[in-house]
Amino acid sequence: MRILSGIQPSGALHLGNYFGMMKPAIELQEKGEAYYFIANYHSMTSLFEPEERRKNSLDVALDFLACGLDPKKSVFFKQSDVPEVTELAWLLTTLTPMAMLENCHSYKEKIARGISPNHGIFAYPVLMAADILIYDSNIVPVGKDQKQHVEVTRDIAVKFNMTYGETFVVPKEQIREDVAVVPGTDGQKMSKSYGNTIEIFGEEKAVKKKIMGLVMDSRTPQEPKPDADKNLAIQLLKLVAPADVALDFETRLRAGGLGYGDLKKALFEQYWNHFTEARARRKELESNLDHVHQVLKESAGRARALAQKVLQRAKVASGLD
Ligand code: ADP
Ligand code: TRP
Repeated sequence: MRILSGIQPSGALHLGNYFGMMKPAIELQEKGEAYYFIANYHSMTSLFEPEERRKNSLDVALDFLACGLDPKKSVFFKQSDVPEVTELAWLLTTLTPMAMLENCHSYKEKIARGISPNHGIFAYPVLMAADILIYDSNIVPVGKDQKQHVEVTRDIAVKFNMTYGETFVVPKEQIREDVAVVPGTDGQKMSKSYGNTIEIFGEEKAVKKKIMGLVMDSRTPQEPKPDADKNLAIQLLKLVAPADVALDFETRLRAGGLGYGDLKKALFEQYWNHFTEARARRKELESNLDHVHQVLKESAGRARALAQKVLQRAKVASGLD
């Protein structure tokens, strides 16, 4: 079984990215042949700063490797190191109905936000289809927001197979229904666009300040809190602390007598401990960037060999070769 997913290089990753996407992706590397890539071509539809793209891509690579992505088990590479995907995207785009792309929620949502769309934003799902089909992927783990894009991929694959004969594996999305939405510092979904994130590898003082600033209500420490499970700090604590520790704090908060300040201090400590090992690994990787670049290049070589084979199959099928 081949598993494939991509992540856009949009900066240092936060706890929402970690628990919602990275951790499940890292666990999946035990279950099949995992291909994960940094979607730097896709980032070109909305980011126009070269240095930022370069830095963000490196940050994503460092974050993933530090958190346990094992390049011996997974193929982990930069999208643009396999330029064959852009060629395949052309073969696919000629079979993609305009209406199908016009119907994509993420496109419509961007238009609704008043973005004046470039052609890349419109064609985004076709490049994504090429990413998926070029590795004969079976399973595509993504967040709910990307479900429709995998459906588009399936439609394009079926249309190609019907037009030119059996060529592509028809993939299936795997939506992480069981992964809860991680709340941000204001209680909304944690997201870069809301400015409410806690980074995985944030600087100690800055993260402490964010955590100590979590919005709580004005009840006194002594008051019992029957809604302790809804408390923002408790929800985050459940992610980063051992289960018994989180439960102990929840019980004490419910009973009354535990102040919010003490709770937040505990949350910071548990957050810091949770990522201690990963933080040390990241430091080590940072001091050996040549190694990181080499890992990405080696993986890209493996990915590229497969991509060339599948692209050639599509070129023969469609009469280009
Ligand atoms: P952001 O909202 O910060 O821009 P992205 O949309 O780039 O994050 O998300 C990248 C991945 O992380 C996606 O797979 C998404 O489902 C996951 N993710 C992002 N935020 C959260 C969150 N708060 N809870 C759970 N998963 C999240
Ligand atoms: N569009 C995805 C996102 O923003 C990233 C992505 C690009 C991707 N190509 C992909 C995800 C292929 C899965 C498969 O999250």
